[in-house]
Amino acid sequence: LVNDVLNANPAIAAAREAMKHAYAPYSRFRVGAALRTRAGRVFTGCNVENAAFGLAFCAERGAISAAVVAGEREFEEIAIVSSSPMPTPPCGACRQVLAEFAADLEIVMAGEKETVRTSLARLLPAAFRAGNLAGGTVPDYSGVSSARRTRRKK
Ligand code: THU
Repeated sequence: LVNDVLNANPAIAAAREAMKHAYAPYSRFRVGAALRTRAGRVFTGCNVENAAFGLAFCAERGAISAAVVAGEREFEEIAIVSSSPMPTPPCGACRQVLAEFAADLEIVMAGEKETVRTSLARLLPAAFRAGNLAGGTVPDYSGVSSARRTRRKK
C-alpha cells in the first residue's frame, strides 16, 4: 500500500518512462531519473553508456542537464528508478552535481520491491559549494560526525 501511494508520485512515473530509453548495453543496469522543479515541471534523464566504458553518463546528470537548459534551477525532488529490484542511490558524482542547485533536495529511490525516501543533505553532508570557493565562510559540518557532537556534550 505504501509503495502504491509513493508510485502515484508523478516524478516516479516520469522516471520509469525515462528508464525505457536507457542505453545500457554494457552493464545492463538501466536507470531513469526525474527532477521536479519548484514550479512543478518534471525533467527526465536516463543512463547513456559508451563502448569506452568510463564515458557512461548517469540518468541523474542527464535530468539536471535537461532542466538547466530549459531555464530551471530550482528543484524540490528527484526520483530515481532502475532495473534493480532494490532502490538505487545516486552515485557520488551525481550527488555533488545535484548539490550545486539544491543542497536540500528530496530524493526518492523507487525499486521494484521497495521505495526509500531520503534527502541530499543526508546523502552528501558538507558538499563542496560556491561558498567554499569564496573563502571566509564558516563551513557547516554538523551532519558529518554526530559522534563527535555527542562527545562534546559530556
Ligand atoms: N548509473 C546511473 O545512471 N545512476 C546511478 O545512480 C547509478 C549508476 C548508471 C551508470 C552506468 O550506466 C550503470 O548505471 C552502471 O553503473
